Amino acid sequence: MKIINNYQVKSKKRVADHGEVLTAEREVNAMLDLVKQEIERIDSRCLEPACGNGNFLAEILCRKLKIVQKYYNSNHNDYVKYSFLAVTSIYGVDILSDNVDECITRLFDIFINEYSAVFKNMPFDDCQQAILYILRRNVLCGDALTMRTVDGSPIIFSEWSFVTGDLIKRRDFRFDELLQGHQKQRTIFMDDWKYDDEINAYIPLPMREFPPIPYTMVQNYD
Ligand SMILES: C[S@@+](CC[C@H](N)C(=O)[O-])C[C@H]1O[C@@H](n2cnc3c(N)ncnc32)[C@H](O)[C@@H]1O
Repeated sequence: MKIINNYQVKSKKRVADHGEVLTAEREVNAMLDLVKQEIERIDSRCLEPACGNGNFLAEILCRKLKIVQKYYNSNHNDYVKYSFLAVTSIYGVDILSDNVDECITRLFDIFINEYSAVFKNMPFDDCQQAILYILRRNVLCGDALTMRTVDGSPIIFSEWSFVTGDLIKRRDFRFDELLQGHQKQRTIFMDDWKYDDEINAYIPLPMREFPPIPYTMVQNYD
């Protein structure tokens, strides 16, 4: 499947205003190869803070879905669950809303095309709605420098984690606090934050926590 758009510049104005020069396929692959093992872990979370129309995120999703196909293509429930998990692990921010829309559509199309290639039909409607909901919550329009959306509110990312069976849990975190947790110095504002040895960072308190829900029903969270 061709997943990389073959243009790097949309307009001179966009280059001047936003430094928008999109990365070519060869460079995307070469860079992702540097972190190949991490990328190929279905649940390893990836955030691109200036994701453009998704050249990196699209290739990351393709690589993860290849792994899902390799291990789970003989079991429909497992395939859907693990490809869903792959989608939940991908995050992006871009300051231009048309890039965000394009990126979401691209990632959604990749999920649909890969599923159709394996099962020769379309995923159920609730599954499609759930995937779209996750993508809209994970790929956000905002300023990655101020870590705020265009209306000035903090960028909030949702963490998705399977708890038992098909139940998934959502916790919302402020982007700026997630980054603050990586600082060596602990401040008074981080009093209740817990240290995570695996990622060597403090985990902030979530802004909101939601009860576990079957993963194909996540769209009912709002
Ligand atoms: C050099 S392009 C790279 C796009 C994509 N990462 C790629 O490699 O194809 C830079 C992108 O950053 C976005 N951008 C510029 N300033 C930004 C900011 N403060 N916050 C988020 N995105 C920003 C632009 O809209 C553009 O899509």
